[in-house]
Amino acid sequence: MNKVRVGVLASGRGSNLDALIAAAKAPDYPAQIVLVISNNPDAGALAKAQDAGIATVVVDHRPYKGDREAHERAIDAALKAADVELVALAGYMRVLTPVLVDAWAGRMLNIHPSLLPDHPGLDTHQRAIDAGDIEHGCTVHWVTLGVDEGPIMGQARVHVLPDDSEQSLAARVLAEEHKLYPACLGQAAARLRAAGKAS
Ligand code: GAR
Repeated sequence: MNKVRVGVLASGRGSNLDALIAAAKAPDYPAQIVLVISNNPDAGALAKAQDAGIATVVVDHRPYKGDREAHERAIDAALKAADVELVALAGYMRVLTPVLVDAWAGRMLNIHPSLLPDHPGLDTHQRAIDAGDIEHGCTVHWVTLGVDEGPIMGQARVHVLPDDSEQSLAARVLAEEHKLYPACLGQAAARLRAAGKAS
């Protein structure tokens, strides 16, 4: 089986990346991670990718001095040079411009740690607690220009417990992220292939 070629963009520790790498090891999983790109040279995700024998590219945003489009053109070039067919944002903590969003329309997924449309942006777990939510969770969605908007592909829910701290709630949500993202990425890859839009 030809697996759909996936590029992952990550800025931080890379636990979701790890979950995707683990899932992709199954022979019948329809996607393979061929490249990990980070804007952060110190990202744990880079070491995790290297441990797994996956190619990595650092495209540090700082030398671009605020030229977000030029930074994204460099990322886009790296994705295309690796023949990537589908992109997964996994803790990529930069707001995207139309350069990447348009280039990868219908081919780019994001995972967000809330039940969108509730709590887009940062500090989602504390905000769920402060809002008195009884349910919280995570969302995988297609990337469009609006931050943390875009058609939802899947969600996973957890109960918010009376004695939850931000940390305890984050840990339960993260465990769900690690199941939800591989499931959604696999579905997205299978759909691309079925539509004749992937190798
Ligand atoms: C995850 O919780 C992910 O949902 C979140 O960053 C974390 C990355 O963790 N993403 C966002 O907040 C994007 N808006 P990881 O590096 O261990 O996968």
